[in-house]
Amino acid sequence: MTEMNLKHIAIIMDGNGRWAQSRSHERIWGHIRGSRIVSKIVEEADELGAKALTLYAFSTENWSRPVGEVTVLFKLLKKFLLKERSRILKNNIQFTVMGDTSKLPDKTKSLIASLEEDSKNNTGLMLTFAFGYGGRDEIVQATNKFIKENPGKELTEELLQSYLLMPQLGDVDLLIRTGGDQRISNFLLWQSAYAELYFTETKWPDFTRGEFRKIVEFVSKRERRFGNICSSDLESSKLMAVENKETITNL
Ligand code: IPE
Ligand code: IPE
Ligand code: MG
Repeated sequence: MTEMNLKHIAIIMDGNGRWAQSRSHERIWGHIRGSRIVSKIVEEADELGAKALTLYAFSTENWSRPVGEVTVLFKLLKKFLLKERSRILKNNIQFTVMGDTSKLPDKTKSLIASLEEDSKNNTGLMLTFAFGYGGRDEIVQATNKFIKENPGKELTEELLQSYLLMPQLGDVDLLIRTGGDQRISNFLLWQSAYAELYFTETKWPDFTRGEFRKIVEFVSKRERRFGNICSSDLESSKLMAVENKETITNL
């Protein structure tokens, strides 16, 4: 297998509520079913050779949802931590939760802290749950921290990046959103500046390892130009530069 060029994959796991409602169930049923998919996608990301997988599990805006739904999402996070802990450690995964977890129950907070601590020296996939996370909030926090620690100094792109919550994750290479909507919803705003975007109609509970693999294979073939021109044009433009000299001078 050739080396995977999409090192950091981020997923907006959307569509749980609509998945349940279209089956005449409560929205929370969709969250329960959706939570069962997560470990399969983590495994697939690892097998595909990604270095980092960041999953959007709860946004700063999701606080506006009914308390009952928020409570279910908290409980599902706790369940995931209990159920997946041994597998995460066995598979050499580094686990982190990024975002404001202060309102989570103490038991869940301690489960997170212990898994983060016990997996911190693992060298495999960096698995990050964005929980209580907002991209704007992250940028504002990073900026404020920088100003406090470096009064009077000018902020640069590199410095801001180093003050983000998880600088080691680097830029997002591929951002996938399930559920059919085509927006970013305040996820990894800074890190996704040059991400390849992929929106699928599939709602999160129906998302599979197979579809994930197909998306990765499809996007791997796209040429990423980062503001440059495509590599074959670059070669021919070097040759043409000599011939075009006169035209350019006469412009
Ligand atoms: C995504 O599914 C999960 C979270 C936001 C926590 P939704 O709950 O947003 O499902 P839809 O988009 O309403 O179908
Ligand atoms: C984004 O989904 C957040 C997560 C998947 C955790 P939302 O369903 O909250 O996004 P909007 O409100 O449709 O933009
Ligand atoms: Mg949604």
